[in-house]
Amino acid sequence: MPKVKQVNHVAIVVEDMDKALSFWRDALGIELHGLRDVPAEKSQVAFLPLPGSEVELVQPTTEDSGIAKYLAKRGPGMHHLCLEVDDIAGMLSHLKSKGVRLINDEPRTTADGKKYAFIHPESTSGVLVELYQIS
Ligand code: CO
Repeated sequence: MPKVKQVNHVAIVVEDMDKALSFWRDALGIELHGLRDVPAEKSQVAFLPLPGSEVELVQPTTEDSGIAKYLAKRGPGMHHLCLEVDDIAGMLSHLKSKGVRLINDEPRTTADGKKYAFIHPESTSGVLVELYQIS
């Protein structure tokens, strides 16, 4: 049976990256590890790692992406919780067999080779959940 290993990151959708960094980096003092454009998700992402986990700030870079629509509808705030699993394909088929509503039936791959997939909030008590498999 596939296992959840740990919380990998928490993602927060922001309207203004500089303003968000003035809290998360400057006031809280979490070091900014990287800021990059993720064209596949039409967003800019800031990575603020902590031991064993990470805060990610996500700002949409177009008006038409899923994340831009989310921001327009709900305003800034928590976007998703990411759990690292040992076997993402196995976990997705396990969840499917349990009747869990998935957004991605098959894992996608990030630019740096991590596999990921999202689970619909309808099945998770309202939180968008991302699964990650790192290796
Ligand atoms: Co994420």
